Amino acid sequence: MFPPTLAALEAAAEAVASREAWDYIAHGAGDEVTMRTNVEAWQRYRLRPRVLRDMANVSTATTVQVAPVAAPILVAPTAMHRFVDAEGEPATARAAARFGTVYAVSMAATTSLEDVAAAAPRGTRWAQMYMLRDRGRTRALAERARDSGCTAIVASVDGAAVPRRSRLKGGALVPPDWFRFPNLAAPGDETSDIMALVSDYDTAVTFEDLPRFTEWSGLPVVVKGVMRGDDALQCVEAGAAAIAVSNHGGRTLDGVAATAEVLPEVVEAVDGKAEVYVDGGIRSGVDVLRAVCLGARAVMVGRPVLWGLAVDGEDGVVSTLAHLADELLRAMALCGRDAVDRLGPDVLLTPR
Ligand code: FNR
Ligand code: LAC
Repeated sequence: MFPPTLAALEAAAEAVASREAWDYIAHGAGDEVTMRTNVEAWQRYRLRPRVLRDMANVSTATTVQVAPVAAPILVAPTAMHRFVDAEGEPATARAAARFGTVYAVSMAATTSLEDVAAAAPRGTRWAQMYMLRDRGRTRALAERARDSGCTAIVASVDGAAVPRRSRLKGGALVPPDWFRFPNLAAPGDETSDIMALVSDYDTAVTFEDLPRFTEWSGLPVVVKGVMRGDDALQCVEAGAAAIAVSNHGGRTLDGVAATAEVLPEVVEAVDGKAEVYVDGGIRSGVDVLRAVCLGARAVMVGRPVLWGLAVDGEDGVVSTLAHLADELLRAMALCGRDAVDRLGPDVLLTPR
C-alpha cells in the first residue's frame, strides 16, 4: 500500500533508495537550517476557516501560463531521476501527464528532452536551464526545448557559486559513472562528472541576459530562485513571464530566509504583472493552500516527487501528487473556498 502520509512516504523512500541517492536528495547546504525552516515557515501561517458557504462542488483546477492543471501543484525541476528509478525522467513525465500538471525537466536530467517528450507527448513540459558560459550551447538547448514541445523555459538564477554539501563525501557529488547528462553536457560529451558540468554555469549572468532565453526559443521565461521583491520586479521588467520564489530547497546557501517568509513581498512587488510560483518545504495540501492564499499561482514540489518515484515509480509520483491535491481539496472545503482563485490572505492568520 502507498504510504498514507508524506512523512511515511519519506521514510519508505529512504528505506528503498541507495545511500548515495538518499544523501543527495535529502541534503541541504551547510547546517541545513534553511532546508528545515522552509518546512516550518509554512506551518506558522494558521488558518481562519470560513463556514456555511456552499461547498458541494469544490475544484482545485487552475492554469499556469495558460496551460490547464488539475491543481496548483507543479513538479519542480530536480536532477538525475535515475538515481531512484531505473527509468527515471520518462516515468516522472508520464506521472505528471496522468495527474494533469506541468513537469519542469531539469537541465541535469539523465534523459534527453526529446526522450522525455516521447514518453509523455501530451504532458505539459517546461525546460529548466542555467545560462552557460558557452552561449552557443545554451542557445542550442533552448532551441531543443522549443522543438521538443516544451512550453516555457525555467531559467534558474541561483548558480553564482557551486555550493559545498556537507552530507556528501568530500562535499561534492559523484554520480554512478554510467549516468549521462544529455541536456547539460555538450553534444558527444559522455561524462558522468556532474560537478565538472556544473562549473560551466555562467557566474557573470545578469538581468540583461534574461531576454536571451525567449529570443532563442520563443518561449516565456520563468525565473527561478528569486528571493526578494525588488529582484522580482527587475526580472518582470526584463521580460519574465513568471517568478519562481525558491531557495533551491535549502541546497545552495544556508541562512537564507524561508520561501514562505519572502513570498508576500514578491507578490506585492510583482503586483499581478507576472505569475508567481513558490517552492521549498511544501509537504501537505494545507501548505499548498497557504501558498496560494499568500498569492502564489502554484507551488512546485521537489523532494516529495522523488520520494514517490523511489517508492513506486510512475504510480508513486501520481499518488504523491494526488495525495497533495486531495488534501488541498479538503482544506479548501473546510475553509469555505470552492475555487483556487477565491483563496486569499483573509483565510490566514499572519504569524507574529
Ligand atoms: C533540486 N533542485 C533543482 N533546481 C533546479 O533549478 N535545477 C536542478 O537541477 C535541481 N536539482 C535538484 C535536485 C534535487 C535532488 C533536489 C531535492 C532539488 C531544486 C528544486 O527545483 C526545488 O527548488 C526544491 O527541491 C524545492 O524544495 P523541496 O520541495 O524539495 O522542499
Ligand atoms: C542540485 C542541483 C543539481 O540541487 O541543482 O542538486
